[in-house]
Amino acid sequence: MDRKRIEALHRRREAVSLGGGTERIERQHAQGKFTARERMGMLFDEGTFQEIGTFVDTRAQDFGLAGREVPADAVVTGYGRVDGRLVYAFSQDFTTMGGSLGEMHAQKICRVMDLALQNGCPFVGINDSGGARIQEGVDALNGYGEIFRRNTKASGIIPQISVIAGPCAGGASYSPALTDLVMMVDGSARMFITGPQVIKAVTGEEVDDQFLGGATAHARKSGVAHMTYADEPSLFGELRWMLGLLPSNNRERTPRVDGIAPAADATELVDIMPELPNKGYNVEEVIERIVDAGSFLQIHPEFASNAVVGLGRLDGRTIGIVANQPRFLAGCLDIDSSDKIARHVRFCDAFNIPVVTLVDTPGYLPGIGQEHGGIIRHGAKVLYAYAEADVPKVSVVLRKAYGGAYLAMCSRSLGADISFAWPTAEIAVMGPEGACNIVFRREIAEADDPDIVRQEKIDEYREKFANPYVAAGRGFIDDVIDPVSTREEVASALESLEGKVPDVGERTQRRHGNIPM
Ligand code: HXC
Repeated sequence: MDRKRIEALHRRREAVSLGGGTERIERQHAQGKFTARERMGMLFDEGTFQEIGTFVDTRAQDFGLAGREVPADAVVTGYGRVDGRLVYAFSQDFTTMGGSLGEMHAQKICRVMDLALQNGCPFVGINDSGGARIQEGVDALNGYGEIFRRNTKASGIIPQISVIAGPCAGGASYSPALTDLVMMVDGSARMFITGPQVIKAVTGEEVDDQFLGGATAHARKSGVAHMTYADEPSLFGELRWMLGLLPSNNRERTPRVDGIAPAADATELVDIMPELPNKGYNVEEVIERIVDAGSFLQIHPEFASNAVVGLGRLDGRTIGIVANQPRFLAGCLDIDSSDKIARHVRFCDAFNIPVVTLVDTPGYLPGIGQEHGGIIRHGAKVLYAYAEADVPKVSVVLRKAYGGAYLAMCSRSLGADISFAWPTAEIAVMGPEGACNIVFRREIAEADDPDIVRQEKIDEYREKFANPYVAAGRGFIDDVIDPVSTREEVASALESLEGKVPDVGERTQRRHGNIPM
């Protein structure tokens, strides 16, 4: 064999691996960013990454590209192992032409997406790009279209996760938006449809790119980002851990590990729930006392804080968690929390993750802004998601469960398989104050002392309706449980529902993909 050919291969490979060259790599590092290949190294188990399409180059010749090499066409693609399980990924190389997406760049991404879907493996996209490569015009646009179509077709079949580690501008941001989870790096990531300059020209508004589309903006305001991280290593560490909670595709069950007792003592649940019914508390403290120690991963923690959603493990089994958060807006349902909950339930349903719902909500948020913003339209998504989901569904009413929000939060009527209530539960059409002001309006108005009569009626209503036993008496609540035994009760209910997961045939036919919010 001609050894020179082998040496030439190594030289070529070495040249490609340098992307846009050492100077640009240094610039990337100076900005606190890692290179495309370094990111693959953080994502995959050591030594398992297999690059494909290494020697792909651009075919474009216009606007200064004639004769120019674009190493790997500015994107690294391939597959590797995460805790031994196969995962496909792309990682855009900002050091090469700003990671811009041309025809061949898009083809490389499409190739790993096709392989991920064909082989039933999660797909991770690491975005760091100036967007459509201007020199490649409609070929670049077509590339995005091909990617969007694949994102959509794969939705609900394989987990798709987007990492935003630099710019992701214009139409490019729609690919992450079509995936299941968007993780952003604080400081370097930014996403927007039109950037600061265009906004200034069109509307006159002045804004910098971080305020407009940085991690904080998308985590708190728009809800586009599900999680944010101070740096890339912490992002990839959590991403690897999260992949361990998910199945590789919608035909698999989630991986099961040994259960670990909760980190905090369940007897404290009794003190966490305040005696006064209108006093707030932190439902995360309840969740911590139910799930396996250290397993709770909150999704969308900064967005629509009146609801908490996330993934965790209960006795070693992956579960999805949905809870109202009485600390914010009394845990009511509004437009944003409805979107947040509905999307999470659909995600869990797609990937065979049982849903545990903790209910404490006084109802839907009243207000002109909410009504005109479409609370009916958005609230309906919660009903749809729960009613449609065919994964095991267990709900626990902790305290308030009033009106439409009671129904929406995984009631038996909507299809909860097992519904529990704590003795502190109040399940009724509406809260005592509101109900008495309507039903006894005349009686209160005509009384010598309206305040005394109102209070009497409120007490009477509370005694009669604001408890779990009316609903339990009709069978809408399967059992009223001691809060201290919640973990055991929910775990046993989930165990009993193991056989519910639809058979493989039905799962391959059906899609439950994530629709954008
Ligand atoms: C070609 C690009 C490019 C692009 C950056 N580069 N974006 N080349 N097409 N879209 C090149 C630059 O020319 C430069 O090359 C190198 O990448 C690094 O870019 P810099 O500008 O030096 O980096 P920085 O200062 O960090 O700024 C990064 C940036 C900026 C904010 C991303 O480059 C930028 O604004 N780029 C254009 C963004 C954009 O408008 N894209 C099109 C969006 S529309 P040299 O050789 O000089 O170093 C779109 C449509 C998609 O994406 C539609 C889908 C439906």
